[in-house]
Amino acid sequence: MDVLRIEGNGPLKGTVSASGAKNAVLPIFAACLLTAEECTIENVPDLSDVRFMGEILKALGASVKRVSPGVWKIKAEQIGHVAPYELVRKMRASICVMGPLVGRLRRARVSMPGGCVIGQRPIDLHLKGLARLGCKIGIHGGYVEVDGSAIHGDYVFLGGRQGPTVTGSENMIMTAVLTPGVTRIESAACEPEVQDMCEMLVKMGAKIEGIGSHYLKITGVEALGGCTHRVVPDRIEAGTLMVAGAITGGDVTVENVIPGHMRSLIDKLEECGVTCEPDPVKQKIRVIGDKPRKSVDIVTLPHPGFPTDLQAQMCALMAVTPGLSIVTERIYPNRFMHVPELQRMGADIAIEGPSAIIHGVEGLSGAPVMASDLRASAALVLAGLAASGETWVQRIYHLDRGYDRLDVKLRALGATIDRMPVESMPVSYIDE
Ligand code: EPZ
Repeated sequence: MDVLRIEGNGPLKGTVSASGAKNAVLPIFAACLLTAEECTIENVPDLSDVRFMGEILKALGASVKRVSPGVWKIKAEQIGHVAPYELVRKMRASICVMGPLVGRLRRARVSMPGGCVIGQRPIDLHLKGLARLGCKIGIHGGYVEVDGSAIHGDYVFLGGRQGPTVTGSENMIMTAVLTPGVTRIESAACEPEVQDMCEMLVKMGAKIEGIGSHYLKITGVEALGGCTHRVVPDRIEAGTLMVAGAITGGDVTVENVIPGHMRSLIDKLEECGVTCEPDPVKQKIRVIGDKPRKSVDIVTLPHPGFPTDLQAQMCALMAVTPGLSIVTERIYPNRFMHVPELQRMGADIAIEGPSAIIHGVEGLSGAPVMASDLRASAALVLAGLAASGETWVQRIYHLDRGYDRLDVKLRALGATIDRMPVESMPVSYIDE
């Protein structure tokens, strides 16, 4: 098991490139199940979640090959309809195979995904959508069993208590593209990753109207073909790197990003006093954090609102920004596992229901901290970059699920950050 040792050493400076989006490549891999022809996926980040999704596709019978760095070839000629518990329970996003299995095979047997530290993650909306299309759904022995033999196009309102569902919409879309008739999805998610998956489906021959909006009209086709698709840049990784520039008072340019996907973060960083220079033509954003900052309030919302996946990172920034900030989490109200760890570094944060009340402090002090989930880990790394002294972040397998060599990228910007075996930590710090 590895840990990250970070020593705050002033402003980050330089240029760094974002990788392909984890939350696009996972449904895109699943979408390859919709055709017997080969799909070539490019700009695939090197992440444990991606490798794991590849294992799930292989378990279903697809041929999955990483042919060169960032390029995977997937061919789902003959596939089964069962996604086993021992795989699905390890990664929630594997629920994304349910839609394509129903679309292609008219049936699916997928283990119910397990719980998750960031909060309740039900799939009632996924199942509501399939039921609206005439599927018979049962839950037996921890598995969802879907019988799509009488499936037909229909209208479905897919909004839930917290608004649209990203993977629920993706499952619905991947079923509807091969479902006879017209399916209209209202309150569909329109995150850039959902749009990217839809663009790929259209390349495969799908008929989808309204991509990028909350209202999709899908006309089912007989079959889909293979394609080559380049995964959209990861706006969450890019945003994390932008906050790294801001929190260290640095001057960081993030390349291979689509500024149009980052509007809510740019808006908040500018409100807080950070200079942002987006360049849509050259697909890069420069972040300059050399001016005094002021606290801002944040509410996470479905796209195009402020993304929940950048909430923890902004809590770290607000922890060292003068003033009072209120960060309200509307998507996963319990998504504050990073807060107790930031408090160990001296942050002044109180949780009141779905909100973190943050009083900015002069500075944080390095400490041994524990990662709990993907984005909380990123927040702890950012805090370590700004803290005095050394910070040891444990359980960084959480980070490796969704960030492609974040430590290497930060080191290239001048950070003192090293991946080390856990044994190199002072004995008293080691998590039993
Ligand atoms: C996707 O998760 C992302 N994961 C998450 O990113 C992201 O935080 C989330 O969307 C919100 O943007 C992937 O794309 C692989 P949802 P997903 O269904 O699809 C409720 C990361 O850090 N809901 O949009 O599982 C749910 O409880 C990860 O990269 C229902 O009530 O999220 C939540 O409150 C974490 N019923 C809200 O909707 C349902 O059937 C949004 O969930 C489905 C969801």
